[in-house]
Amino acid sequence: MQAAQNELITRIGPGTPCGDLMRRYWQPVALLDEFDPRLDPRMAERPLKAVRLLGQDLVLFKDAAGGWGLLDRDCPHRGADLAFARHEADGIRCPFHGWKFAADGRCLDTPAEPAGSTLCKRVRQRSYPVQVAAGVLFAYLGAEGSTPPALPLLDCFAAPASHSFAFKGLWHCNWLQAFEVGMDPAHASFLHRFLFDEPLAGAYGRQFRGASAGDVQGERWPMTRVLREFCSPEIRHEELAPGITRLTSLRAINDTLTHVRVTNAIFPHTFVIPLSETLTITQMHVPVDDTHTYWFSFFTGFAEPLDRETMRQQRLAHVTLPDYVPRKGRHNDWGYSAEEQRTRTYLGMGEDDINVHDQWAVESMGAIQDRTREHLGQSDKVIMANRRTLLQAIETVRNGGTPPMALTPEQAAATTGPDTIDCIAPAQGWLAHWQQAAAAKREGAAWLNEAAKSVASPQAALPHSA
Ligand code: FES
Ligand SMILES: [Fe+2]
Repeated sequence: MQAAQNELITRIGPGTPCGDLMRRYWQPVALLDEFDPRLDPRMAERPLKAVRLLGQDLVLFKDAAGGWGLLDRDCPHRGADLAFARHEADGIRCPFHGWKFAADGRCLDTPAEPAGSTLCKRVRQRSYPVQVAAGVLFAYLGAEGSTPPALPLLDCFAAPASHSFAFKGLWHCNWLQAFEVGMDPAHASFLHRFLFDEPLAGAYGRQFRGASAGDVQGERWPMTRVLREFCSPEIRHEELAPGITRLTSLRAINDTLTHVRVTNAIFPHTFVIPLSETLTITQMHVPVDDTHTYWFSFFTGFAEPLDRETMRQQRLAHVTLPDYVPRKGRHNDWGYSAEEQRTRTYLGMGEDDINVHDQWAVESMGAIQDRTREHLGQSDKVIMANRRTLLQAIETVRNGGTPPMALTPEQAAATTGPDTIDCIAPAQGWLAHWQQAAAAKREGAAWLNEAAKSVASPQAALPHSA
């Protein structure tokens, strides 16, 4: 890849072509948890925090009526930092000269101006639409006056709070290399390889520690065993709709059995993967700026309600609040141990948190991967296809068109699923087998409506956006 092309697909600041594309979508900007005083005591007194998204500095706050405000961070008077604003019931007030702004950006007061001044009426701070979905605040940073798209009715947004849990973490690298991990089914056999399996009983909420659905001659196999013993998957990919790619990774176990893992890549930066037989992870890779990314993970349960507190505590152990910065990183070699690498894991960066494995992979490439120096192989074909889609979408937006997954409400309502699976299937008939297993999982989700339950059928085509 040429250097200029790499610049084009990675830079997302205001005014850049890829930034314009990213601004056509709702972007996660914070967890609702970040405003929970039990996790951040400062929020009891002042529910306001500075956030950075797509290279823009913003303040996000909750007013007394429960509404959310997302405003540019520099005060429109003389540019002081509104992250230090006084929080008042119906807005926030800049401490420099007391100008006050409502959640929608209206200027409510300019107290240093003479009585009768109309300056206030002529000033407006840029504000951005905010909505809450699946425990996360989403922001729309599109052009002023433009209509935001609708959020697709993916499983993670359809599930009730009892069956969903959201978490996030910061990576010190560009968004695209973070996302490209999700389109790379081969890496799990190496980067996440455990040299020993653990008892399945302790697997709750932990990626790859659970069993693949099904059995091998009556024996339940942990995913770790499948990934370790069969490390050269056949990777197939198909576009279910513009912007939704299904990846099927096949690992032949013996003459009669095949391991099937079905994951999905959703444009521009989401993947959907199985965590266990009844849990999925939807992960978005949100550009903070060109060299920082928050991954937002949405865990969705298809059977019993989630044990959200256990899942939260498992993950809080690996980050520092309030910014969800991983405890491990470049500063401490991501916790690397040569001894562990020799005796326990392929990578040597711990067994409890597989996230640090991916973190090392994407951060160690450098802040923005130099794609002029890479050599892609067969196992990277989905990454290549996605880059073509990305370049095309940038061009579409440049020409005033609508990119994939910028959906109308009708399209969004029909964009359900997508299915994931990790199962052991008959070598002959694996396709029907996994689709039946996925349909059964959907059938078991009491919260799914009938239309969404039928998504497992390949004929139930997802809508094509304009
Ligand atoms: S700079 Fe904010 S009120 Fe003057
Ligand atoms: Fe991974």
